[in-house]
Amino acid sequence: MSDSANITALKALVRTVPDFPKPGILFYDITTLLKDRTGFAMLIDELAAHYLERKIDLVLGIEARGFIFGPALAYRLNAGFVPVRKPRKLPAPVARVTYDLEYGSDTLEIHRDAIQPGQRVLLVDDLLATGGTMEATIKLVEELGGRIAGLAFAVELDFLRGRERFPNHDVFSLLHYD
Ligand code: PRP
Repeated sequence: MSDSANITALKALVRTVPDFPKPGILFYDITTLLKDRTGFAMLIDELAAHYLERKIDLVLGIEARGFIFGPALAYRLNAGFVPVRKPRKLPAPVARVTYDLEYGSDTLEIHRDAIQPGQRVLLVDDLLATGGTMEATIKLVEELGGRIAGLAFAVELDFLRGRERFPNHDVFSLLHYD
């Protein structure tokens, strides 16, 4: 399927940086899109369009780059915003998940009272790569009794097949790269 005019325009604003953060990796740098007022608005509107007809109570963003898109999307969808943070940042009681990385592990936390059981939560991050970060975040939301309304990403690296981890969820990414 070929990209729409909007998606082509958005992709033209993404800068590719070879060999970052290490040799052989092509980095898709969205900062060049974010600073473009038309591009940023189009990105948020295109993401929001996918959810406008659904009832979303909360948009949840994953630190750090999920914080760029999550709040703007929450505002657009008339929803609240919940941050999922790196360890020891949140002041009140938290639920915690630790997950494996290629080398080592990482931990994420959420306030225990951030989600009421049954609330419909849209989970947002900038990038779907292997899907490990989102899979861990899903565990946090499920532990608190939230209902997952969807998984939204600005960019998806299709060749890593991260979406295969989420056969039971609606996965929506705006910009796909092979
Ligand atoms: C990046 C990105 C996603 C995650 C995607 O975060 O922002 O959160 O990796 O990768 P995955 O699908 O393989 O889990 P990073 O760990 O670089 O943290 P940062 O956002 O704080 O820079």
